[in-house]
Amino acid sequence: LVTAGPTKEYIDPIRFISNNSSGRQGYEIANSLAKFGIQTTLISGPSTLKKPENVNIVKVETAKEMYEETIKALPVDIAVCTAAVTDFRPEKYEKEKIKKNILNINLKQNIDILEFLSKNNSQRPKLVVGFAAETSNILKNAKEKKNRKHCDWIIANDVSKKEIGFGSEYNKVSIINGDQIEIIEKNLKSNVANKIAKKIIDSFA
Ligand code: CTP
Repeated sequence: LVTAGPTKEYIDPIRFISNNSSGRQGYEIANSLAKFGIQTTLISGPSTLKKPENVNIVKVETAKEMYEETIKALPVDIAVCTAAVTDFRPEKYEKEKIKKNILNINLKQNIDILEFLSKNNSQRPKLVVGFAAETSNILKNAKEKKNRKHCDWIIANDVSKKEIGFGSEYNKVSIINGDQIEIIEKNLKSNVANKIAKKIIDSFA
């Protein structure tokens, strides 16, 4: 199971809260896993990318839908959460377009899908991999995130640099597994995905 892309949290029929995630790294990981012969489901938020071959794709818009589709996809052996899930949604969805005199919107926190998977005792995937999109103190913040969410590995990426991360074809990541840190130097997201998929498969050998 791979989650990818952003989610969109609607404020009213035409406005939403979201982020700039293209979904590319997740699509590439799903593609690599499928190429290595792993039966793969990709749960994707809004993305313009083409469906990878031999991958079962489920398209969603909101974090709630992504969570519900994740539950439906269980049980799985491997979960890779690359999605840039929008952390909050408006408390109230307005059915009519909001007029410009409204200046405040109350927000509610969305469920954390990675944390749910990692703490799901009855159907916990054998390997749960998270991503940590950070703009500063990359490794420190990523390690804290790994501990907080109880995933097995966390893959840290620096999203403050334009040439890697969100929207780019390239990425540079650090895979944190316990005290081990493996750096994958700047490379096409497809090559980074291949390395991640290979490492995942090797961990089952
Ligand atoms: N994640 C998730 N569900 C959420 C939020 C995040 O599954 N509601 C997952 C992401 O897919 C990623 C990891 O958690 O694997 C970390 O996401 P990130 O956006 O880096 O961190 P947040 O938990 O949102 O924390 P913060 O925004 O405070 O850095």
